[in-house]
Amino acid sequence: MYYPEELVEEVRVRNDIVDVVSGYVRLQKKGANHWGCCPFHNEKTPSFAVNGAKQMYHCFGCGAGGNVYTFVMNYENYTFPEAVKMLAARAGVSLPEAEYDEEQKQRQNHRQQLLDVNREAATFFYYQLRSPQGQVGYRYLADRELSDETMRKFGLGYAGRSGAGLIRHLKQKGFEDRLIIEAGLGSHNERTGLVSPFWNRVMYPIQDIHNRVIGFGGRVMGEGEPKYLNSQETPVFDKRRNLYGLNFARTARSGNIILCEGYMDVIALHQAGFTQAVASLGTAFTAEQAVLLKRYTDKVLLAYDSDGAGVKAALRGIGILREAGLSGKIINMQPCKDPDEFIKKNGRDAFQERIDQAENSFFFEIRMLERGFDLKDPESKTLFYREIAKKLCSFSVDVERENYLEAVADKYHIGFENLRRLVGSYAMQTGVDKPPERPRSGVRQKNSPQENSRRTQRLLLTWIVDDPALYPRIARYVAAEDFTEELYRQVAERLFRDLEAGRYQPAAIVSMFQDEEEQRQVAEIFNTNLPRLETRQEREKALHDILYAVKKNSYEHLTASLGSDVTALSRAVAGKKALEELAKTHISLE
Ligand code: CTP
Ligand code: MN
Repeated sequence: MYYPEELVEEVRVRNDIVDVVSGYVRLQKKGANHWGCCPFHNEKTPSFAVNGAKQMYHCFGCGAGGNVYTFVMNYENYTFPEAVKMLAARAGVSLPEAEYDEEQKQRQNHRQQLLDVNREAATFFYYQLRSPQGQVGYRYLADRELSDETMRKFGLGYAGRSGAGLIRHLKQKGFEDRLIIEAGLGSHNERTGLVSPFWNRVMYPIQDIHNRVIGFGGRVMGEGEPKYLNSQETPVFDKRRNLYGLNFARTARSGNIILCEGYMDVIALHQAGFTQAVASLGTAFTAEQAVLLKRYTDKVLLAYDSDGAGVKAALRGIGILREAGLSGKIINMQPCKDPDEFIKKNGRDAFQERIDQAENSFFFEIRMLERGFDLKDPESKTLFYREIAKKLCSFSVDVERENYLEAVADKYHIGFENLRRLVGSYAMQTGVDKPPERPRSGVRQKNSPQENSRRTQRLLLTWIVDDPALYPRIARYVAAEDFTEELYRQVAERLFRDLEAGRYQPAAIVSMFQDEEEQRQVAEIFNTNLPRLETRQEREKALHDILYAVKKNSYEHLTASLGSDVTALSRAVAGKKALEELAKTHISLE
């Protein structure tokens, strides 16, 4: 949904950033800023600054920053339209209804009906669990050491002794057979008419990230088959694109997500305080789910069962995570079967230890690979090394491959150069990749000329935003085109236009960009640390130097890209003149 700029701006203005952030972070006013501990990285002393005048925040520790939209997008993991919706609701601004055509409307309607019937079923199950007939279910869950609070948090329920109660209830609420069937909550039976497949089971409602019930998993009481019965896929229940527990895990802020196999594992982990746990929905982990996870974390810890099937699933999962650009680690559950059992036997601290000791996915793969070889047999050993070499070839980044090569050689006592040669020959034979090279010097130049010039451009923009009265004095020396970084140029253009029209709303400039990273960069532009200068002369000198440096960079940039373009040539000449003039000019801050 696209909202007009004025509306986006109205919603922003009505949500004071200090108010909004205070709802999430404890802030204390000191000087021009409100300070707190940054919610986007771990810290004990506050380096997170919220500025009421600029209506922006910036963390001097991790570089997070933006306006009130960026904050809720980051904190709540909302998309831009979701952030607009939330803040509009908070400030009581009404947003226009999206304009759908007939077909879209019907589809929307249909999805809503499915969600409605699911919600009603979840409510029914929930009350059943707490009724005399549901005692068997409640006792089962309590025996598995779930607290009443946990059962409530996950909305757990009981399906009833037969499949008739639910159907009766849903029909009474006015839902049609057709819809009940489509939602997977009932099916026709020659003899008994419409009945639900869910009976004699404890019910786990499956929620999407907006806490809407999209389907169910039901576990049989006792030893029946199948142990778990899951809703079929529907237009609102896409098993490939949802994860059990993600509605809670997405705001856990633990720096990682724990991926498990079962619903019970997720629930047990949450109860023990690991609210970052999720599970796939009775099907194997998918690439779509990996992409979904990437919205919330870049570190995934696999807490799969320790049996053969679990290892196989973990190996598959590692590949999928790697493909999605996520780093994967494996939590060792031994000697327990799964996280649920582990927590029950050993408690939360022991599990935290296992998290801290989680094994890098590459080493896990190699270790599992090793099981298939007899390292006492030279031939088998060679084959094992070959397999390692093959795996090493899959790293496309040289440095990464080199690092793993070194680590594996060390761990398995293989000569480093031998293994390297093996990798090289494997790569050559298969043509998968060029042989690895020694890593380059590795020392990254800390301040490249580009970064220096970007920093100067940021300094100038921060200065103007901190002291907008400055702008009329320097307007004749500087133009938006002088900002050679494209994002900076766009920002300067808008800022200067605003200032010329007598407007000052830097935070509005942040919402020109809908991408979080761009919003962060804009906030960074306006929050560069200005040099602390005591006297007016010092400040004038600094401003002059910054202005001169920006101008000079702009001129050099222009001449460097100069072709036979005549207008560019004349602009360069004018730029040179301006530069010379500026060198002689004194800018007064009086
Ligand atoms: N599963 C399923 N159908 C089955 C068995 C399992 O869909 N017949 C799915 C469920 O999502 C379940 C997960 O696979 O949560 C893990 O299975 P399992 O390890 O058997 O489940 P647990 O969570 O250990 O089950 P419990 O502890 O209740 O015995
Ligand atoms: Mn289990």
